[in-house]
Formats: sequence, C-alpha cells, structure tokens
Amino acid sequence: MESALITLRRVEKDYESGAGTVRALREVDLEIKQGEFVAIVGTSGSGKSTLMNILGCLDRPTRGVYELGGFDVGARGSDARAILRNRLIGFIFQGFNLLPRTTALENVELPLVYRGVGTRERRQWATEALAAVGLGDRVHHTPNQLSGGQQQRVAIARALVTRPPMLLADEPTGNLDTRTSLEVLALLQNLNRERGITIILVTHEHDIAACASRVITFRDGRIVTDVVQTVPLDAAVELKALPPPDQGGAQGSEDADPALAARRRLGGPIPAVLYVTMAVAGIGGVGLGVAYASLVLGVPSTWVPAGFGFALETVFGAWFGGKRFGRPLTSDQRTRVALTYTLLAACVLGPMFAVGVLPGSKPLLNRLAELSSGGVLAALGVTAFGLAAVALARYLLISLVSPLVAPVAVPSKPGAAGGHA
Ligand SMILES: Nc1ncnc2c1ncn2[C@@H]1O[C@H](COP(=O)(O)OP(=O)(O)OP(=O)(O)O)[C@@H](O)[C@H]1O
Ligand SMILES: [Mg+2]
Repeated sequence: MESALITLRRVEKDYESGAGTVRALREVDLEIKQGEFVAIVGTSGSGKSTLMNILGCLDRPTRGVYELGGFDVGARGSDARAILRNRLIGFIFQGFNLLPRTTALENVELPLVYRGVGTRERRQWATEALAAVGLGDRVHHTPNQLSGGQQQRVAIARALVTRPPMLLADEPTGNLDTRTSLEVLALLQNLNRERGITIILVTHEHDIAACASRVITFRDGRIVTDVVQTVPLDAAVELKALPPPDQGGAQGSEDADPALAARRRLGGPIPAVLYVTMAVAGIGGVGLGVAYASLVLGVPSTWVPAGFGFALETVFGAWFGGKRFGRPLTSDQRTRVALTYTLLAACVLGPMFAVGVLPGSKPLLNRLAELSSGGVLAALGVTAFGLAAVALARYLLISLVSPLVAPVAVPSKPGAAGGHA
C-alpha cells in the first residue's frame, strides 16, 4: 500500500476545437497508491473522462507529468503506452462495449488474443475470470441473452482477465438500476479488498461514491476536494438491506432508495473507543475547570469543572466521530452517543455520589437523609429529569459542533496525496 501507483504533477489537457481551446484539465496534482478505491465525481464537463483517458494511457497530457508504476507515460510513444495499458490497466465502460454476436467467453478472451496468448490458456483464463464475477454458468451466452448487470460483469471479467493491478471504470453503473449497481459495486469492492486491485471509478451517483475509500471532486478541470472515507459503505451490506427484487417489481430501484436512505441515516455503530475518548476529554476538562475556578475565578466550584468536562467530552466526541466516519455524525448517531454516554456517566458517577467520594456529594447526601420517602421519590424524579436534560443538551451541543469539527471536505494540496488521513 506504500508506493504510489499513479502520480500526476501539474497535469493539464487542452482540446483544440473550432471555437478555440478548451482547457479540460488544469494543474491537476494527484497521487494514488496501489490498493486504493477512488471515486471521481463532478458535474458534466468537469474533466472526469479526460482524466480517465490520460490515466488509461489512451491520451497524453498537454502539459505536466503522468507517472504510472514509475514510468513517465507522457514521454513514451504510442506503442510503449499501448504496452503499459495492456499490462497494467483493465477498462470498464458505461455501455459495457461487448461484441454483440459473440459469447461471453469469447468477449473475455479478446484482450488475451491481442496479447498473443495461446487458445487453451485463453480459454482457461477467461473461464476463471467469468467464474470470479459469478458467471460460470453463462459462458456461452451472447450479450443479448444477458441482463444489463450480467453484461457489465462480463465486461469486468474482460477487464480482469489480463490480471491488471488497476481497473478504470467510467460510469460503470450509469446504465444500471440501484440493485444491479450495488451488485457490480460489491464485486468491485471484493476485487479491491481480496486482490488489492486499485480501482478508479467515475460516477454521478452519490450512493456509488459512498462505497469508495476516497472521493475526488472535479470542477472546471480542477480537483476541488479530495476526501478519505474511513468507513465507506459496504455494497454487499447495502444490497442485503434492499427489499427482494420481486417485491419491488419494475420499480425496484425506486422502492429500494428509501431503504438505502434509512441505512445512511443510521450511519453505523458507534465504536467504544469514541466513548473512551469522550471520558478522557471529560476528565481533562474537569481538571481544566478546577484550575480555572481556583486560579482565575479564585473560588472553589463544582459547577465550573462539571461544565468544562461536559463541554470538552462533547466536543471531542463530535470530533472523534467525524474523524472516524469521515463525515459529521448522523442525527441517529448523535442521539445514540448522547444517550449512551449520559447513561454510562450516570452509572459511574452515581455510585461515587452514593458513597460520598464525589466533590460536593456529602452535604447533598445529608439533606437526602433528612427527606421523607415522598421527598426521596421527588429527588429521584428530579434526578431522572436532570439526566434527560443532560442527554438532550449533549445531543444539541454535538449537533452544533459536529459540522465545525468533522472533516467534511478537505481541500486537496498540490503535490500531496490529497486529504489522506
Ligand atoms: N475531444 C474533445 N475535443 C474538444 N473538447 C473536448 C473533447 N473531449 C472533451 N472535451 C471538452 O472537455 C471538457 C471535459 O470533458 P469530459 O468529457 O472530461 O467531461 P466529464 O466530466 O467526463 O463529463 P460527463 O460527466 O458529461 O461525462 C468538456 O468541456 C468537453 O466539452
Ligand atoms: Mg465523462
């Protein structure tokens, strides 16, 4: 995962047309390491396909340097580029680009024909590639006998058959519905994880980009953001969350979207280390509060340290959550954090209060001892109300600071590998 597979330095691409020069790429600095799963997003005409053509050695930059696997691509002639392309890159297109009256097996064999691989080996490698994409039982079907998703899987097998370290996909799911898109994505994620294949994929769809571990946004030929997603969506999990295809009928994809949206709202489980971070920050905050009360205010206080602790643990919780998930905590996650942490704190501080080791608990305990049973009930009610208020305040504070402290979009730095954490 260490060495950069792709390095672009100040890459620019100009197209000459009747109306003048179109600057399709401007000062693009980019580094992509072996094993990354990168989504390229941006509005139409922002330069995504231009970039893919350059990355795929189909075209050369007008200015700047493109290094692929240590080779300076721009400095090589078209034959040398064709060899690099053949050895290092598999292509997947939106329109599948399969030969129509040709079987899946023959389509997948094609890149091996260009390579001069013998018939028997070709057949064996192509059969293996088709099995790897789950089409072992469709090898003799022609494209018109296959569904869109199956055709795209044939195209993926064709891209894989030469065993390239990198796959380039320009809108691979653009012609597919939600379920089929997720199936293709799950396959790509699996190839990325299991075989360490680097994947660079152009997409217009938010759900697809959410499955990548890094999202690069283009605008007017420039990289405007480059964000690492520490916890990308798992397409296989999303797929399971969809209703069965027969239930959705023809509108399967539309029916599926609310389920996807709901999953995204849930945002995934909260790691225990987030609560530990909050507790450490809380203890630090209490210490700071004690110092502040005695040194600045000059009076001992229990409320000031409590306030400091509350503020710090909440801010750190929001910050850590943002860092962990690569986006602010979802509203559902904020609710869970606020409730769970408040309960945990009550479970720790409650017994400490009861045995009188918490500062300020002695006089309160004495007063509790004087209460009638009705008074104790009222005190318990007030405590429960207090806990609910603290949880609510915590939720509101996390909501307030989350967008400020979470890494929403890290602007890419020229020369560096973008917003890598
Ligand atoms: N061969 C060409 N000749 C002239 N201009 C071109 C050529 N190819 C692309 N362009 C221009 O370069 C710019 C970037 O095009 P590109 O195809 O890279 O956009 P894109 O981000 O892939 O868009 P889309 O999302 O619509 O596919 C556009 O303004 C386009 O008109
Ligand atoms: Mg395009």
